[in-house]
Amino acid sequence: MIHLESFKIKGGRKLCGAIRVSGSKNAALPCLFASLLSDEDFFIENVPDLKDIRTALALLTQLGKEVKFKNSVVHIRRGGAAKARASYDLVRRMRASVVVMGPLLARLGKAHVSLPGGCSIGARPVDFHIKAFEQMGAVVRVEKGYVSVKADVLKGNRIRLPFPSVGATENILMAAVLAKGRTTLLNAAKEPEIQDLVKCLKSMGAHIQGEGTSIIRVQGVSSLHGTRHCVIPDRIEAGTFLVAAAMTQGRVLLQDVIPDHLSAVLTLLRKAGLSLQVKKNSVLAAWKKQLHPVSVKTSVYPGFPTDMQAQWMALMSLVKGRSRITEDIFENRFLHAHELSRMGADIRIQANTVFVKGVDSLSGCPVMVSDLRAGAALVLAGLSAQGQTQVLRVYHLDRGYEKMEKKLRVLGARISRI
Ligand code: UD1
Repeated sequence: MIHLESFKIKGGRKLCGAIRVSGSKNAALPCLFASLLSDEDFFIENVPDLKDIRTALALLTQLGKEVKFKNSVVHIRRGGAAKARASYDLVRRMRASVVVMGPLLARLGKAHVSLPGGCSIGARPVDFHIKAFEQMGAVVRVEKGYVSVKADVLKGNRIRLPFPSVGATENILMAAVLAKGRTTLLNAAKEPEIQDLVKCLKSMGAHIQGEGTSIIRVQGVSSLHGTRHCVIPDRIEAGTFLVAAAMTQGRVLLQDVIPDHLSAVLTLLRKAGLSLQVKKNSVLAAWKKQLHPVSVKTSVYPGFPTDMQAQWMALMSLVKGRSRITEDIFENRFLHAHELSRMGADIRIQANTVFVKGVDSLSGCPVMVSDLRAGAALVLAGLSAQGQTQVLRVYHLDRGYEKMEKKLRVLGARISRI
C-alpha cells in the first residue's frame, strides 16, 4: 500500500550539483481546470507528474473530459464538460478541486461540488468563493456535504475579497471570464500562480486586466477557445532545494527557475549569509560560512510564502542563535515543529509564533509527515541530521514534489524509498 512508503535518509552529506526545477503544481492545477471553459483541444505543458495532478486529471475525466498525460504535457481533447458533479472521493483527496466550481458554473450554469472538509493545516473554509458566486447572481445551497451553485445568467459584479485568497481569486476569475458584463475583483491575490492562470485564460480569448495587482478587471466574453500553455516553474520546490543547500553546507545550481518569483526567499537566505548567484533562469546557492538566524513572518505574495515556513523552521533549527517564525496565513500549521523537536531542535510554540534556538546538530529518528510542506521540512532535517532518519507517510510529499528522492540523489544525498 502506497501510504506505507517511507524515506530512509542517512544524513550528513553536503548536497552538490545541478537540478532542473519542475513545473509548478499550484499553477498547473487551475490551468487544467480552465479546460472546462472551452470545447476545443487544450494543451498544458511543463506539468509535473504528481499525485495532485493525477487527482485533477481524474476529476476532469469524472466531469466528462478526455485527458492524456505524457512527457509533462497534458492534452485535454475537444468536447465539452457534460457533468457538473465533483465527488467527495476526489475533492477530499485535494482541496484545490473546489476550483472547478467557477468554470463549471460559467460553462454549464451549475456545479455540484463536495465540500473539501478540514485538513491538517487548519479549517480552510470556502466561504469567500461561495459569497462571490452569490454576488454574481448564483443561488448557492450547501447540503449533505456538497455545495450546489446554480445561475441562469451569471453576471459580472464588483467583488471585494475579505482576504486575498488564492483559490477564491482563481474560482472567481474563471466564473467571470464567461459572465455577462464586467467583474472588478478587489483585494485579489497577486501570486505568480494567479498571473500564470490569467496568461492561460488570455490565450483562450479572455479579457482580463490587472493580474499581479490587487485589482483585477474582467470583461466577460461569450466563448473561449482552446490553447497551448506552458506553466511556470515551481517556486516552492526551488525554495526547498535552496534551503537544502544551506542546511547541508552544499552548493546547488537550480535551473529553470524564475528568480523574481523567489525574491522574498532569496532576500532572507542572503540575509542569513548564504551565497547566491542569480541569473535570468537559474540560481546558484553556495554555503560559504556559518549562517545567522533570521526571523520570518509569512504573508501573501510578494511576502514570505507560508509554503516555505516549515522548511525555514528546519533551517533555523540548525543556525546558531535565536529566531522567530510567525504564521499569518493558516492556523495550525506547525505540526512539523513537534517532529523537529523529536530530532533535537529547540523549538517553543506560542500561539502563531515559533521561537527557535539553533542547536549544533539534529539526530536522526523516525518522524511522521502530517502535510506536504511539513514533509519537506523533515526531509531537509534528515539530510542534515546525524545518523539515520526514517520519514514516514511520504505520500504527502508525492502530492507536491516531483521525483524528490531522485533529485536529491543527483545532488549526492543518501536517500531511498522503502
Ligand atoms: C493556495 C495554495 C497553498 C498555499 C495557499 C496560500 C494551491 C493549490 N494551494 O491554497 O499551497 O499555501 O494558497 O498561499 O494553490 N480562506 C477563508 N475562506 C475562503 C478561502 C480562504 O477563510 O473561502 C482563508 C484560508 O483559511 C487561509 C487564507 O484564507 O487562512 C488563505 O487561503 P487561500 O489563499 O485560499 O489558500 P488556498 O487557495 O487554499
